Amino acid sequence: MDKALNWGLLSTAKINRALMKPLRASNRTRLLGVASRSQAAAEAYARELSIPRAYGSYEAMLADPEIDVVYNSLPNHLHAEWTIKALRTGKHVLCEKPLALSLAEVDAMTAAARETGKILTEAFMYRHHPQTSKVKEIVESGALGKLQLIKGAFTFTLTREGNYRTVKEMGGGSLWDVGCYPISFARMIVGEEPLEVFGWQAEGPGGTDESFYGEMRFGSGVHAQFDCGFKSHYRTYMELVGTDGVLYIPHPFKPGARTELQLTRGDEAQIIKIKGQELYLGEVEDMCDAILRGRPPRISLAESRGNIAVILKLLESAQTGKKS
Ligand SMILES: NC(=O)c1ccc[n+]([C@@H]2O[C@H](COP(=O)([O-])OP(=O)(O)OC[C@H]3O[C@@H](n4cnc5c(N)ncnc54)[C@H](OP(=O)(O)O)[C@@H]3O)[C@@H](O)[C@H]2O)c1
Repeated sequence: MDKALNWGLLSTAKINRALMKPLRASNRTRLLGVASRSQAAAEAYARELSIPRAYGSYEAMLADPEIDVVYNSLPNHLHAEWTIKALRTGKHVLCEKPLALSLAEVDAMTAAARETGKILTEAFMYRHHPQTSKVKEIVESGALGKLQLIKGAFTFTLTREGNYRTVKEMGGGSLWDVGCYPISFARMIVGEEPLEVFGWQAEGPGGTDESFYGEMRFGSGVHAQFDCGFKSHYRTYMELVGTDGVLYIPHPFKPGARTELQLTRGDEAQIIKIKGQELYLGEVEDMCDAILRGRPPRISLAESRGNIAVILKLLESAQTGKKS
C-alpha cells in the first residue's frame, strides 16, 4: 500500500480551502500543517480547519521533517523564492499558477527540482478534469476537421481591496491571474508555441492590466483570441472552431461533477454530457502518482515555461503596441 504523504499549506491563502476536501478524501494524503507569517493566524486557521500543526513562519514548516509535500499558495511574486526553498529542504511542491513571473525564475525552480530529485508541478487544476481529456479526444478524433480558430475568456469582478492582484510588483494583473487559463488551454489544444502574439491592455490602479485582450498565431495556421479581466461579470468559455465543426465549452476551467460540451457539425447540434469529478482532486492525485509511483506529473515544467513565455510576450506587446 502507498504511504500517506504529509502535506503542508504555505500560507493561509483563500485558495487553500479548495484543497481541503481532496487532501482529506485520499488515503495517500494527510493534511498535517499550515504556516503563516503570524503564529496567531496559523493557530486560528489550524483550529478552524482541524489541521494538526500550525507554524508561525514559513521556515518553521519547511524545517519540519515530517512534511513531505508543500502546497505553495503564496502571492505570485513569492512562488519562485519559496518553491526553491521548499525543494532545497527536501519537500515536493505543488505550486499555484502562474508558476513564476519570469523565465529566469522558472529555470531556477527547474534546476532546484532536478538537483534535489523532488517533484515540482504547477497547480492548473482544470488539466486533470475528465472534461479536458474529452475535449482533447474530440479534437484528436478529427470531428472538428482542421482547427482554424480558438476563442476563450476568463473574467470576474475583483472586489478584494488591497489584494496582491492589484499590485504590479507582486505579480498582479488579470493576465497573470486568469488570462493564464485560456492561454494554457489554447496551447494545450494546438500542441505548439505561438509564432507571434499581440496584446492590448486596459490599465488599472498600480499599472496592472485590469483587462487584457490577446491574440496568438500558431505555425499550423490556428489563430487564438482571448480576453480576461477584473472588471467584467464572471464569465468563462472556450470555443474551438474547425473546418467541419465547432466545439463550445461553457465551463472549461472550473467544470464540476457534471458538465456539458456543445458540438455542432453541419446542421447537427449535439450535447455531450460528461461525468466529472471534484475539481481539485486531480492535481492532488497527480502529485501522489508522481511521488509514490514515479509517474511524470501531467504538467511538465517545460510546459509551464511555455505558458509563462507567452504571458511575458503578450505583456511586452501591450507595452510596445507591436506584435511580439
Ligand atoms: N487554481 C485556482 O483555482 C486558484 C484560485 C485562486 C488563486 N489561485 C492562486 O493561488 C495563489 C493565492 O491566491 P489567493 O487569492 O488564495 O491568495 P490570498 O487569499 O490573497 O492569500 C495569499 C496569502 O499569502 C500570504 N502572504 C505572504 N506574503 C504576503 C504579502 N506580502 N501580501 C499578501 N499576502 C502574503 C498570506 O498568508 P499568511 O498571512 O498566512 O502568511 C496570504 O493569506 C495565487 O498564486 C493565485 O494565482 C489559484
